[in-house]
Amino acid sequence: MTVTAVIGAQWGDEGKGKLTHVLSKESDIVLRFQGGSNAGHTVSVDGEVYKFKLIPSGVLHPGVRCLLCDGVVVDMLTLADEIVTTRERGAFRGELQISRHAHLLLPYHRIQDIYFEEAKGKDAIGTTRRGVGPAYADKYFRVGLRAGDMLRPDFAERVRAATHRKNVLFSGYYHQPEVDPEQVWSDVAPTVELLAPLVTDTVILVRQAVANGARILCEGAQGTLLDIDYGTYPYVTSSHPVIAGALSGTGLSWRELSRVIGVSKAYNTRVGAGPFPTENTGEAGERMREEGAEYGTVTGRPRRCGWLDLPLLSYAAQLSGFTELALTKTDVLDGFAGIKVCVAYERNGSRITWPDLDPDVLDRCTPVYETLPGWQCATSHIRSDDELPTAMRGYIRFIEDYVGVPIRTISVGPGYEATIQRR
Ligand code: GDP
Ligand code: IMO
Ligand code: MG
Repeated sequence: MTVTAVIGAQWGDEGKGKLTHVLSKESDIVLRFQGGSNAGHTVSVDGEVYKFKLIPSGVLHPGVRCLLCDGVVVDMLTLADEIVTTRERGAFRGELQISRHAHLLLPYHRIQDIYFEEAKGKDAIGTTRRGVGPAYADKYFRVGLRAGDMLRPDFAERVRAATHRKNVLFSGYYHQPEVDPEQVWSDVAPTVELLAPLVTDTVILVRQAVANGARILCEGAQGTLLDIDYGTYPYVTSSHPVIAGALSGTGLSWRELSRVIGVSKAYNTRVGAGPFPTENTGEAGERMREEGAEYGTVTGRPRRCGWLDLPLLSYAAQLSGFTELALTKTDVLDGFAGIKVCVAYERNGSRITWPDLDPDVLDRCTPVYETLPGWQCATSHIRSDDELPTAMRGYIRFIEDYVGVPIRTISVGPGYEATIQRR
């Protein structure tokens, strides 16, 4: 039995979908443990591009069992659409099941997300507006509907009642239009037929997989710095992308973890508001955005770009106990003559390496950079470690030495094959 977890080490979009797809070929079961349709995980294979919001990125491999586990919030409309589209493309080769305990995200959650963001004005955090925060809020407020509720005969009544409760908030507090409960039900009802048969007790399936010695892969969404507790609150998501989320969200225990892979780009990006010490709004950042096609998978927003921040990467490594790193999008830096990397911050005249993620503090930190030589040659065709240019090896070693974690995977392009495994 092996349990491998793929964890975002930055602010999301590190290439978790690609890595999950690569690793799931050698897996029996792939688990999504948190997040919802705020995620956009891109898999490029044989010229086809898939952008999964909810379906685990292992679904393209025949026989792989994919589970949306307890910690996920399931947008019924998005999931139904994703299943149909993936099937129509002939790409739905695995199996999919949904935890009966996973909370449902209904159309009013999306509306609430928009009302919330708009009411905040200049303090808006720039959510994906997919309703994920409101769905988690209902969960913790203990008023949410769960996937298992789809199996109840009174599910329609529950949806209508929940919509009525939202309307009190929408009209009374936000002074915004109400939502028609009949409309919500008529939007959602056609998806029940497709989704209800997929609902099951995933904890039992996970425990059986452990007992049977299965190869289990956990696919994180978002990234460590967006964690509700350990990220740059309030500029965060509403779940736990760190390794703790993979345990609480699935029913796995810490004893069962074999590999915890932190996924980091060779530089940093962020989409949405919040502190980003190494953000580069000049030529270098612009070049990263264009070379790396840094536009949000879910919203299409341009991603903010900047140099790799090693104090933050080290923080992420410590929180989740990364046993290895996967460094992605190294090819995006192919043309840079010099590569800057943040090794510390300066604040009030002192040098610090342990980041304080409070936005007021982090915003006032000035990064201290070292500049390493660029390799200045194309690398996307490279498939083996010994062919990597010397300067790239130097960059990789520098990161490994700083973080104290080996880089075992290097991704040199979006495609499945553009992956170098190092032993
Ligand atoms: P995720 O949310 O962590 O799964 O990442 P996204 O899919 O949102 O964003 C990563 C983007 O980078 C996608 O467009 C991928 O196809 C692309 N990508 C992944 N790895 C590489 C790589 O090594 N090089 C390049 N150039 N693109 C990559
Ligand atoms: P993947 O899984 C990048 C960001 C949003 C916003 C903040 C809160 O593709 O890496 P939310 O909609 O979650 O309430 O938004 O979190 N965010 C992401 N950024 N990748 C993601 O997912 C993200 N999911 C949420 O941009 O700043
Ligand atoms: Mg993404």
